[in-house]
Amino acid sequence: MRIEQHPILEFRRGRRITFTFDGRPIEAYEGETIAAALHAAGVRVLSRTRSGAPRGLFCAIGKCSSCLMTVDGIPNVKTCVTPVREGMVVQSQRGPGRLNPDFRPREREVRELRAEAVVVGAGPAGLAATRVLLRHGIKPIVFDENPHLGGQLIKQTHKFFGSRAERAGVRGFSIAEELLSEVEGEAEVLRQARVLGLYFEDGKRVLAVAHTDRLLLVEAEEIIVATGAEERFLLFPGNHLPGVYGAGAVQTLMNVYGVVPGKRALMVGAGNVGLIVSYQLLQAGVEVEAVVEAMPEIGGYHVHAAKIRRLGIPILTRHTVVRALGGERVEGAVIAQVDEKLSPIPGTEREVSVDLVCLATGLNPSTRLLEQAGARMAYVPELGGRVPLHTPHMETTLPGIYVAGDCAGIGEASTAMLEGELAALSLLSRRGLELGGEMEATRKSLEKLRLGPFGARPRAGKEKVFALMKGGSGG
Ligand SMILES: Cc1cc2nc3c(=O)[nH]c(=O)nc-3n(C[C@H](O)[C@H](O)[C@H](O)COP(=O)(O)OP(=O)(O)OC[C@H]3O[C@@H](n4cnc5c(N)ncnc54)[C@H](O)[C@@H]3O)c2cc1C
Ligand code: FES
Repeated sequence: MRIEQHPILEFRRGRRITFTFDGRPIEAYEGETIAAALHAAGVRVLSRTRSGAPRGLFCAIGKCSSCLMTVDGIPNVKTCVTPVREGMVVQSQRGPGRLNPDFRPREREVRELRAEAVVVGAGPAGLAATRVLLRHGIKPIVFDENPHLGGQLIKQTHKFFGSRAERAGVRGFSIAEELLSEVEGEAEVLRQARVLGLYFEDGKRVLAVAHTDRLLLVEAEEIIVATGAEERFLLFPGNHLPGVYGAGAVQTLMNVYGVVPGKRALMVGAGNVGLIVSYQLLQAGVEVEAVVEAMPEIGGYHVHAAKIRRLGIPILTRHTVVRALGGERVEGAVIAQVDEKLSPIPGTEREVSVDLVCLATGLNPSTRLLEQAGARMAYVPELGGRVPLHTPHMETTLPGIYVAGDCAGIGEASTAMLEGELAALSLLSRRGLELGGEMEATRKSLEKLRLGPFGARPRAGKEKVFALMKGGSGG
C-alpha cells in the first residue's frame, strides 16, 4: 500500500521499526502515525463499537475519534495523530476503552508556564499570525496537535488558486515550508501539543495543553485561535465502514505518509476539494470510478473539472451515494440520481465496484475551544456553521482572544493567512504599538480577495458576523 513513485512528491521515510498490533508484528517507519502504518500494512479495522461494528480512520487529523485504540495500555488514543515507536503495543478496543485496574501510569509532569502571546494551530492562519508577531518583537508559543506542522497546506500538491500576493501559483506544501522556515527557531513551536481547554481563572486567560507526556498550564496575556476546520459527515447506510474517509484523510495518507487509501475510489462532492483530491488519487495510482455531485452544477473551478474529465473520470451531477456495501470494510457502493429536493430517484440506483468512498462534502469550523471559553457564537451557513462573532479585525467577544482562518468561517488559505496577520496586528494595536497603515492595508487586501465570484458567499457570511458583533447579538 506504500507509494513508491509519485509525479510530485518524494517520500523520505525514517528508520525502520517494529511495533505490535493485537500481538502481531507490524513494520513501520519512524515519523509516521500508528494509523498510517497500519494502513500501509493493509489493516483497515482499527477498533469496534460496543455492538461489534468495525471502526476505521475517518479524518486523520485528530478531530473525530474514529481511530481510537489502546496504546501501551492507555485506552482511547487517537492513533491518527500519534507517531509509532519501536516496541509500541497497539490493541484494538471494543467500545470506549477502559484502563486495566493493574495499569500503573507513568507519573505525568504538570508544568505551569506564562506567555506573552499564544497561537493555537500552525496552519496558514496561525503561522501568518506568528510571523507578524515576530516581526514586531513578540515571541509567541505556538501549539499544534499534529506531528507535522502547516495545517491543510502540507498535503496540497497542487498549485494554489487565490491571490498572487498570497502565493497563488505555488504548491500548498511549498507555502507551508516557506511559512515554517520563517517561524521555526524564532517562536517556540510545539507539535503534538493539543490544546484541551481555554478558560478564565481569576480573570486570567489559561490554556490546558496535553503535550506528549506532559500537561502544560499556560497563562497567556493574549491568544490567537487558528484551529482550522473539520470534515462534514454524510448520512447513508454503511457510512461507518472502514474505507469511508473524509477527503482530508485521503490526502493525509497519500501526500504526507505516502500510503494509498485503497485501489478504486468513489468521490462524493465536486467542489474544489473533491476535484483536486480526485486528481491526487490518480497521481498516487488509485483509480477513480466517478465523482458524484448532488447539485446540478459543479461547485469547483472548471479548470480542475476539465483536468479529471480529460483522464476519463465521469462527473455525475444530480447524483449521490445511497449506501456503502460490505461487512467489515467498503466492498462497493450504490449511487443514484437525485430529484430537486436531493432525494434519490427510485429505479436509478447503480452499484459501483470500489473499496473506498471519499467524502468531500464540506467543512465545519473547528470552534470547540472558543465555545468552551464562552465566546459568543452564531450559526452562519455561508461560513460553514457555528462561528465565533468577531470584528473585521478578528477580535472575538472575549477580550484579548482573537480568531483567524477556517475556524472563523470556512475560506481559503490565502484569506486564512490575511486573517492571521490581522489578528496579530489587532493584538499589537491593543498593546498600543504604532502600526502605521499596516492594519488597514491588510484589511483592504482581504476585502479585495473576497471580491471574486468564489468570495461572494464568505463575504456575505462575514457581513452577517460583523453586524451581529456590532449589534451585540448571537448565542
Ligand atoms: C483539497 C484542498 C485543496 C485546497 N486548495 C486551496 C487552494 O488552492 N487555495 C487556497 O487558498 N486554499 C485552498 N484550500 C483551503 C485551505 O487549505 C484552508 O482554507 C486553510 O488551510 C485554512 O487554514 P487554517 O490555518 O485556518 O486551518 P488549517 O490549515 O486546518 O490549520 C489548523 C491547524 O490547527 C491545529 N489544531 C486544531 N485544533 C487544535 C488544538 N485543539 N490544539 C492544537 N492544535 C490544533 C491543526 O492541527 C492544524 O494544523 C484547500 C483545502 C483543501 C482541503
Ligand atoms: S480522530 Fe483519528 S481519524 Fe478522526
